[in-house]
Amino acid sequence: MEKIVSLCKRRGFIFPACEIYGGLANAYSYGPYGAQLKKNIKDAWWKKFVEERADIVGLDGPIILHPKVWEASGHTSGFNDAMVDCKACKKRFRADHLVEELTGQDLEGNLSAMSEALQGKKCPACGKSDWTEVRTLNMMFKTEMNGIEGPVYLRPETAGAIFVDFKNVIDSCRVKIPFGIAQIGKAFRNEIVARNFIFRTREFEQMEIEYFIDPSADWEPLFEKWLSSQEEFFTEIGVNINNIARFEHSKEKLSHYSRKTVDLEFEYPFGKSELCGLAHRGDFDLSAQAKFSGADLQYTDPNDNAKRYIPHVLEPSFGLDRALLAVLCSAYTEEKLPPPSEGGARGGSVDKITAEDVRIVLKFPPKIAPIKIAVFPLLKNKPALVDKAKGIFEILKKNFTCEFDDNGNVGKRYRRQDEIGTPYCVTVDFDTIEKDDSATVRDRDTMQQERVKVADLPKYFEEKLK
Ligand code: GAP
Repeated sequence: MEKIVSLCKRRGFIFPACEIYGGLANAYSYGPYGAQLKKNIKDAWWKKFVEERADIVGLDGPIILHPKVWEASGHTSGFNDAMVDCKACKKRFRADHLVEELTGQDLEGNLSAMSEALQGKKCPACGKSDWTEVRTLNMMFKTEMNGIEGPVYLRPETAGAIFVDFKNVIDSCRVKIPFGIAQIGKAFRNEIVARNFIFRTREFEQMEIEYFIDPSADWEPLFEKWLSSQEEFFTEIGVNINNIARFEHSKEKLSHYSRKTVDLEFEYPFGKSELCGLAHRGDFDLSAQAKFSGADLQYTDPNDNAKRYIPHVLEPSFGLDRALLAVLCSAYTEEKLPPPSEGGARGGSVDKITAEDVRIVLKFPPKIAPIKIAVFPLLKNKPALVDKAKGIFEILKKNFTCEFDDNGNVGKRYRRQDEIGTPYCVTVDFDTIEKDDSATVRDRDTMQQERVKVADLPKYFEEKLK
């Protein structure tokens, strides 16, 4: 994990937020490559689940919704986590996690049993044993809004806006059950402990779908199909599927309205933990919003006007930051390079400049890679090479996310592009301008190089990057 965190900072993917002020409680900024990577993951998700499907439409609702929405959903009264403080060192813990760590027991939801279990147990931070009672904390961030009496909340999940706009969508678009509404956006949770880099933060992004079905429909095959689609998506964005496992919530742990909930868990460097979830939520959400708002949120069957019902919902919910972390963990590779004498990886005319024999590569699938092609002049002080390389960059950047780089030597540039996961590098050398009007194209994964006519480069990359 340390290697990934360090690479993310060094290469402009993810920075600790507000570092010049000493940081802010496990918050992060996505740097230039991280922001592009995140956008590529969002775009891949939107394309797969919205643009390529006839049965799903998109939505972009507000972060601050009417406070009644969260009363109806149960968040105002019940979106709580249990916390406990060490009175000696003042460190705060999430009580259920701490009890599990110290006693191996899963006592989530039972405050008094957790307080009891911690008696005599030592604080992992200071070694003393002086605990407060275990108590709950509502995880929604409160704020104020002019013209509204009482608090309003930053949404703790994107799903809320989807239920609120369900009626608008069925009234304005020709959707027929089964259909889904998808949304990507920020969510906020005042987590008791934010940790493990971008795995658990207080501000994060979700990509959620509410998939509305007829309550009498056979939902189990659909549920299975959704799980497979979720796994398929992760494979497409480069997450190692061998490190993903399904975890079904036990009947005792299920919310009262849920018929089935399955998480996909990923083997992160710090252990196996949730990546995304899929839940059958019955008609709980729409019924609750209908009750609190007074609106009629029933659906009328277009083939039978007498058939009116509140649809049930399947909810595939993805955390964008966790998806990005799983992508990074799967892409991170350290490779021992064969010695140049063996004509191996560094044996090519340009690659042999590199001195160390281990290279770090982020092996992103090309469609996810923040930069697709880097263009270099062999030497930065030869205007003819620089002009030619800039000309190629200008042409390629129209269709691909490209970078022009003339810093340091070519070996160092390759090393840098490997570390940001760029699938292809194009080098302009003297032969390009004096002999064959071809450039060297170097493949990130094989490190093989081939000469390609400059005029053919757009078509060549269209093929390679499709
Ligand atoms: N609407 C359902 C819902 O919000 P959830 O399991 O609480 O379900 C869905 O959250 C996903 O959001 C999780 O699987 C995870 O990927 C992501 N997520 C939740 N809390 C997070 C946090 N504090 N930091 C980063 N991602 C988080």
